[in-house]
Amino acid sequence: MAKKLVTKNNQMNKDQKDAKPAPTSTTTSKTTSKTTTQKPTPKKVTPQKPKVKVLDNLSILKSSPYLKQKNESKTPQKKPTLKDLFDRSLLSQKEEKLEIVMTGQYEQALDLMFEADASNLYPILVGPPGIGKTTLCRYYAQSRAEITGNDSFEWITFDESTKPAHLIGSFNPATTIQKGFSFEAFNPGPLIKAMLNGGLFLANEVNRATEYTQNSLLEPLEEKTVSVPHIGRVKASPGFFFIGAMNPSELVGTHRLGEALKDRFNVWIELDYPDKKTEMKIIEHNNPYYKVEESILEKIYLIINRTRTHHQIQSPASLRSGIALARLTGVAQKRNKTEEPNKILRSLASNVLFGAIQTKPGVKSKDVISNIISQVLGSA
Ligand SMILES: Nc1ncnc2c1ncn2[C@@H]1O[C@H](COP(=O)(O)OP(=O)(O)OP(=O)(O)O)[C@@H](O)[C@H]1O
Ligand SMILES: [Mg+2]
Repeated sequence: MAKKLVTKNNQMNKDQKDAKPAPTSTTTSKTTSKTTTQKPTPKKVTPQKPKVKVLDNLSILKSSPYLKQKNESKTPQKKPTLKDLFDRSLLSQKEEKLEIVMTGQYEQALDLMFEADASNLYPILVGPPGIGKTTLCRYYAQSRAEITGNDSFEWITFDESTKPAHLIGSFNPATTIQKGFSFEAFNPGPLIKAMLNGGLFLANEVNRATEYTQNSLLEPLEEKTVSVPHIGRVKASPGFFFIGAMNPSELVGTHRLGEALKDRFNVWIELDYPDKKTEMKIIEHNNPYYKVEESILEKIYLIINRTRTHHQIQSPASLRSGIALARLTGVAQKRNKTEEPNKILRSLASNVLFGAIQTKPGVKSKDVISNIISQVLGSA
């Protein structure tokens, strides 16, 4: 019986496939056999209108300020070449004016950096990921350039594979074959550039470098000189300043900062998760377009902050997570005007937190996250 039914259905599908567009006149049906007149008339396929959600997504993406390019001219432009894009980006980088939240610990840290610079001492910023170390250094570089008129700022982010040549420079093999180990064949690295210009060098994530690479910093920091193989020793110009930044050494992926290097950093600036007011300001500052109301901002802060005190979390969410959650919530609220903001926040929080926290062994991230969400937002 079942087999029969399947055959019948298959036949029907075949008939439907073969069928021409829906018969409109009775004459057509007259010409068909008795059995085929009983089969259901194939439905007319009408083109589907795009779903509301698709239109919604389209408009939110089209109006997003993050996707808009600066285009001063009103006339249509030809497609820029890669070189055009490169030049345009170089220009905008020069014009870039970094604005940051400068209260609480950031203000104190900035003051200390100026004092260290004025005393010809080298500071190092230490703090967990995403606390604002790099941002603060970039801001310091900008402020220093405004005061001294010297905008030389070089930086490198260290990791296991960073070699001394990445700091000092290397010889171009082709030119070296032609001209030997001469200055013309030498591509200076960022450290030499900063030293020669009397500028600022930032050694970002300095404790991710191997001890071998860390040791190449000893001479520049102590003697303000650096030896370039085949060329000689170069002395830093007046004004050369060196800042280190790193995560606390107990974090995965870090090396021990060698005693000799440690001893050359004379001002230790510890940064921690900022106070509530400062962190809320930072989140707001980094969410310039789709603002969320103050009460939602506070809930975002509370969710993020809870990850830092939760006994089952090994590595908590950083400032980046709060910023991400505020931006996402702002956009979702704009798209979904009728939805309750709390509900939006509840559904997005886990999307942001899932990869942002590291739980203790044996603890599921999902459980911890829903526990935190219900603690802050109440149970669903
Ligand atoms: N004072 C501040 N004002 C405005 N935004 C800030 C401030 N501090 C941090 N931020 C924002 O927080 C985010 C993380 O900052 P940053 O990259 O400087 O952290 P970090 O400590 O260098 O992190 P990592 O250790 O992972 O390198 C960035 O998006 C930055 O814009
Ligand atoms: Mg950084």
